Amino acid sequence: MSSAELSVFIRAIGVHTPERKLMNADLAAMVDTSDEWIKTRSGISERRIAGAGENPSDMGAKAANQALGRAKVAAADVDLLIVATMTPDVPFPSTACLLQAKLGLRRDIPCFDVSAACSGFVYALQVAKDMMRGGAYRRALVVGAEKLSSVVDWSDRTTCVLFGDGAGAALLETTATPDVGLLGNILGADGSNAELLHCAAGGSAAPATAESLREGRHFLRMNGKEVFRHAVRVMAESCERVLAKCGVRSEQVAWFIPHQANIRILEAVASQLNVGMERFPSNLGRYGNTSAASIPLALEEAWKDGKIRHGDLVLIVAFGAGLTWGATLLRWHEPTR
Ligand code: UT7
Repeated sequence: MSSAELSVFIRAIGVHTPERKLMNADLAAMVDTSDEWIKTRSGISERRIAGAGENPSDMGAKAANQALGRAKVAAADVDLLIVATMTPDVPFPSTACLLQAKLGLRRDIPCFDVSAACSGFVYALQVAKDMMRGGAYRRALVVGAEKLSSVVDWSDRTTCVLFGDGAGAALLETTATPDVGLLGNILGADGSNAELLHCAAGGSAAPATAESLREGRHFLRMNGKEVFRHAVRVMAESCERVLAKCGVRSEQVAWFIPHQANIRILEAVASQLNVGMERFPSNLGRYGNTSAASIPLALEEAWKDGKIRHGDLVLIVAFGAGLTWGATLLRWHEPTR
């Protein structure tokens, strides 16, 4: 078999979420909101909040070490590291470089970040797959790690109730077994709608100043209603497109693992696809929207709960700031069975 035919599959997955829980009742004491409003409008009950020394590279290291431990793979055997994050530890260097040092990975490997907000994990998986399937890289870590609590305006009730912190890591590996792992993918973006979900200051176009800080321009801002509308349409379309590309019908998919943004978005996507919510496992209630970490967190939970099994078709789908979106169909593969 030529190296061009290699399959790339998720060998193991690991996660980490901070200990501290922020409950809806805590938020109701901070802004004009209620447990009932948050639960009904978003499906979220609680979220995790990282502490001062608990940055995306720290959470990512814990998640990646769990994945490596589960696969019994040494850090020295990792050939590529990609981190998906919209809340990097610092503007530069990349969170991937900071994580490389924390994990003790080799120095002769590429380590870089992918910036695609909530779609980051799906983007990074595809980048890794395309780099690996030619055979140059045998094992890759793809990590989604976010500390959204550091960019949320805690006085803005329209956003602060939605987001949380956490990390998830997938250890990818190549195999000569055909038709397993990451089968097909679609990615897309629409920069003309960038302002729907963005952070206006803190980059090189508008460096942090006393004025920008006073005006709160370094916080995440979102037009929730518009983002909601785009999210439902694009996530449903992305699922349909990737299924058509792979020649698979939605009935054949065992599990849909969408980005966890709002339970009503998940319900609307499931309804458009004519799929029951029992095939859309969700942990949104406990973690809120963790952006690039949300899919690996939900995927790991569905695997650990014994839902996802060897041979299952799993469709992951994401949507986020950019706007960006992506969907990947994969066949779950456990070579050691
Ligand atoms: O990760 C990908 C990006 N993010 C998303 O996908 C999120 C997409 N958007 C959403 O999930 C929803 O639009 C929200 C949860 C953000 C908002 O839900 P909604 O049903 O679209 O509510 P709304 O924005 O239309 O607001 C309804 C009302 C408004 O009051 P008025 O104008 O009707 O008097 C808001 O001011 O609810 C008010 N409101 C709140 N009330 C209590 C907004 N936020 C809150 C709040 N607590 N936290």
